[in-house]
Amino acid sequence: MSSTGLSGKSVIVTGGASGIGRAAAERFAAEGARVVVADLDADAAARVVGAIEDAGGTARAVIGDLSDQRVVDETVTTAVAAHGGVDVLVNNAGIMDRMSALGETDDTEWERVIRVNLTAPFLLTRAALPHLLERDGAAIVFTASEASLRGSAAGAAYTAAKHGIAGLTKSLAVTYRAQGLRTNAIAPGGTATGMRVNPSPEALGPRTLAPYISLAGKVSDPAEQAATIVFLASDAASNINGAILPVDNGWAA
Ligand code: NAI
Repeated sequence: MSSTGLSGKSVIVTGGASGIGRAAAERFAAEGARVVVADLDADAAARVVGAIEDAGGTARAVIGDLSDQRVVDETVTTAVAAHGGVDVLVNNAGIMDRMSALGETDDTEWERVIRVNLTAPFLLTRAALPHLLERDGAAIVFTASEASLRGSAAGAAYTAAKHGIAGLTKSLAVTYRAQGLRTNAIAPGGTATGMRVNPSPEALGPRTLAPYISLAGKVSDPAEQAATIVFLASDAASNINGAILPVDNGWAA
């Protein structure tokens, strides 16, 4: 048993095929946890599962769009069937499309960003909840954002969705603390992932990310975010519940 208490636990990481999620999936596996990587990207997810297995760990992939209830259900079913339940849920998958100001946000952008960044974590949490409540020491960790804490250049829909994640985190913490389920979030600043450092022109739209990243003073490594996710899920954080922890080199200070 490792000191984190994560050895043998069943962990779901959404968006686990790349960036912060990949770093978290690999770190949980290194602690001895059994990981389900749920992601849209089949090739990238297969590479993560392969890397975990090559290192002696246990992982499965579930491929699909987590805003689809069927993919949500398959994710939970896979964790229960393959790993015996759900101890830790990491709601990390997200998109930062276009980043429009409210006046330029059309219905399509609004609905897609809210659906992927807020509704999908709601659906998966609701599906996993009965399984989490069966386990001692269960934990949920959300990847929120500095855009969960204040107005942000990441756009109206993204900022609204990420504030919604902060609300979900706090609501879950106060609702289920008596049953031993802890819920926390990390609030990353600019982190070197595909989303942030090398976004597609379609995702970037008319904006540039350079000033946004430079506000943080340094760009975070995904491993720094992953270490905090794993900490919040671990026994070391047993009295931390409802926290939204900035991991941003003081950006939000
Ligand atoms: P990333 O783009 O490297 O990883 C996101 C992963 O989520 C990808 O593997 C993608 O395929 C997956 N994904 C996206 N939509 C999905 C869907 N509908 N269903 C299933 N999988 C889906 O980006 P990164 O940076 O690792 O993002 C992870 C989280 O971190 C996101 O919630 C993001 O909003 C948040 N975040 C990132 C920051 C950064 O600077 N990179 C800063 C603050 C928050």
